[in-house]
Amino acid sequence: MSIADEIKRARRTVALTGAGISAESGLGTFRGKDGLWSKYDPASVASIESFAQDPRKFWNFAREIGWIFINAKPNPAHIALAELEAMRQLDAVVTQNVDGLQQRAGSRRVIEIHGNAGRIICTRCLAKYSTEKMVDRLSQQDVPTCERCGGPLKPDVVLFGEPLPKKELDLAVKKMRSADLLLAVGTSLEVYPAASLPEVARKSGAKIVSIDSKRTSWDNLCDYKISGPAGEILPRIVQAIKIIF
Ligand code: OAD
Repeated sequence: MSIADEIKRARRTVALTGAGISAESGLGTFRGKDGLWSKYDPASVASIESFAQDPRKFWNFAREIGWIFINAKPNPAHIALAELEAMRQLDAVVTQNVDGLQQRAGSRRVIEIHGNAGRIICTRCLAKYSTEKMVDRLSQQDVPTCERCGGPLKPDVVLFGEPLPKKELDLAVKKMRSADLLLAVGTSLEVYPAASLPEVARKSGAKIVSIDSKRTSWDNLCDYKISGPAGEILPRIVQAIKIIF
């Protein structure tokens, strides 16, 4: 059966996305030869311990990659998932990405389990700010501070060593349990607990489709594996569904 047929037949399809869905928007992935973690050691620039020890170093790194996020635009893969949702063929997107590109493409039900770089949080009083509105402060201060309490600010994203936001993780698990089809797009699934989500869906009886440009270590869990760029494959699936209707 084609993936379009599987989606059409499914009662509830849920997507799980990773950095690969944003690769065609010019955002680098984390692993692999050209991945971010081949240039930087995540333990020393993206862990909560490193932030606590040397927030200046963390912010130098965050500023260096931040402009890429600000300038990125949704690509055809993000738009295809938004279209699937609008066609009532996709219940929700659970994403490990912090770029907000799926919402900008039009997706409404997006569960962000690793936070969103479009927000800044005060590590002391937990006040939240829009990153866009804080751009001056972020570029002027080595370690930006909260305008209310003076505490150190941090992007509202999950760093290594931090727990995932409970509400979002619970909702993600619920979505996995309720799905009978899981579309995993552009994720190596090497980071837990996100990496265990397909197993949750699988145990609840879901079929699993992986769309990824390369082989991944979890391919054996998939019922279907489609290799190639998500920005080409997902729009083709959407086109095929439109023909079936
Ligand atoms: P990874 O970099 O680990 O994996 C990205 C996946 O996308 C790989 O399997 C690539 O083969 C695939 N890929 C690359 N380009 C693609 C394209 N155009 N179309 C389809 N697939 C493509 O990224 P994630 O799995 O998202 O966490 O990484 C998970 C977490 O690790 C991130 O959320 C982040 C990171 O450390 C934290 O920072 C907490």
